[in-house]
Amino acid sequence: MASLALGVLVSGRGSNLQSIIDAIAAGTLDAHIAVVISNKEEAFGLERAKTNGISAVYIDPKPFKEQPNPREAYDHAVLAALKSYGVELVILAGYMRIVTSVFISAFESKMMNIHPSLLPSFPGLHAQKQALDWGAKVSGCTVHFVTEGMDEGPIILQSAVPVLKDDTDETLSVRILEQEHRIYPEAIQLYGEGRLIIEGRRTQIAESVK
Ligand code: GRF
Repeated sequence: MASLALGVLVSGRGSNLQSIIDAIAAGTLDAHIAVVISNKEEAFGLERAKTNGISAVYIDPKPFKEQPNPREAYDHAVLAALKSYGVELVILAGYMRIVTSVFISAFESKMMNIHPSLLPSFPGLHAQKQALDWGAKVSGCTVHFVTEGMDEGPIILQSAVPVLKDDTDETLSVRILEQEHRIYPEAIQLYGEGRLIIEGRRTQIAESVK
């Protein structure tokens, strides 16, 4: 059977994309990246894709601004691209756009995101800074399925990271990122093995049959 076809959406540096590329190369993730798509032409994630022989597609949001519903129109274009590459699971990896219901319903339970906090704490932007500002002693990261509410979908995996006395936004972000790079490929592998069972808000992880 062909390995799981991933479509990875990025807007920036793409270090999570790189962790997925590396996990595939290391044989710990049985999948292939069919396409990397970005809404930013300069996204370094697109470069990473090209360097690794992966199709890299930039879809410019500007032309869609003229349309009555620009966000949905843009998402239709992204969807068409994902479908043309035969994508089975969509991976949001630092994708800085809110995805519309058009997109979410097309890939219901087949789209994941990673967020740099222990959700439901600190959703939205600058989650690491939010955790520091709040005085949290522990933060971390969360891989979750994508639903309509921002950062609200069923949680798949989380990893806790202690907040240290002298932490800055940067130092905490680096330690959280290390964990992101570990749990995102792991979550995708669990999906590929058919072991993620969504029951309401909870994602049960079935035992490995191997
Ligand atoms: C990560 O911190 C991720 O949790 C958040 O955006 C950042 C993306 O980083 N959603 P990168 O582009 O994968 O390096």
